[in-house]
Amino acid sequence: MNKQALETIAQAMVADGKGILAADESTGTIKKRFDSINVTSTEDNRRDYREMLFRTDEAMREHISGVILFDETLRQKAADGTPLVQVIADTGALPGIKVDAGAKPMAGHDGEMVTEGLDGLRDRLSEYHALGAKFAKWRAVINIAEGLPSAACLTANTHALARYAALCQEAEIVPIVEPEVIMDGAHSVERCYEVTSAALTSLYAQLGEQGVHLEGTVLKPNMVVSGTENSVQAGIEQVAEMTLDCFKNCVPHAVPGIVFLSGGQSDQDATAHLDAMNKIGGLPWKLSFSYGRALQAAPLKAWGGKAENIATAQAAFAHRAKMNGLAARGAWSADME
Ligand code: 13P
Repeated sequence: MNKQALETIAQAMVADGKGILAADESTGTIKKRFDSINVTSTEDNRRDYREMLFRTDEAMREHISGVILFDETLRQKAADGTPLVQVIADTGALPGIKVDAGAKPMAGHDGEMVTEGLDGLRDRLSEYHALGAKFAKWRAVINIAEGLPSAACLTANTHALARYAALCQEAEIVPIVEPEVIMDGAHSVERCYEVTSAALTSLYAQLGEQGVHLEGTVLKPNMVVSGTENSVQAGIEQVAEMTLDCFKNCVPHAVPGIVFLSGGQSDQDATAHLDAMNKIGGLPWKLSFSYGRALQAAPLKAWGGKAENIATAQAAFAHRAKMNGLAARGAWSADME
């Protein structure tokens, strides 16, 4: 393992005022996003949409440290024939790749999921490395419900994350480890705190056991928030304080950075929460974003599949990237919106 190379990449992923654009929607997920704007999900439409984001030059250069891609995009060429990986690299951002094969129902555990994709991963990683990927992502899904998650679900998912991370580091690819505790449900913010703590504790025990070099990893977690169906919704300050309290207890200082997922939060909540945490400050790791929906919802809607809307859609993406870049420095305020 080349520890120095891994650390250099991980540090670049969490550079000051920058975060990650999660554009790694699987074919099924991007179809859902396109359905919402009445656009057919063809290979060309997916390319046009993503190329539009990657060519939002100022936003990419100033606020985006890396882009997570789906397999198809890593191999795709822009309309002018330039590989999309090259378009991204030309802005100074690092190309990354989603390598998990998705969360599947877990045998014997109703309502729980386990992420697949370890078989053949070593060979895929070596191909991805050759194609220019500097980092990877693997997402585990942890649902909260009556009696869930089970210990079996946490162990199976964090064990897989650790084996994935070890394989990535062998291939000189920085693993983003993503144990996502899902927001859906009627649970309280306290219950989210408890489950997030349990997931992170299990994750770092497994990463330790597999000999993963933490300085060469990046954590992508959920924030500690109230379940979407709970009548009591924790405010911005409470989310920020509880999230930081939870992470201080569970995430080793060796981890260079934490890049949050947005998970269904509104665009502005995702920004406000990140900003509030960075305003508290005094943290052992960088805190930034790795948003999918919270960066893309506005440009997706503005684009609507029409070439004449590209400039407006790019402006919408540039705005969210800028707001989140400010939040990563604790320098955002609502009146900037
Ligand atoms: P959201 O920010 O839309 O949750 O997506 C981030 C992601 O990559 C989830 O795996």
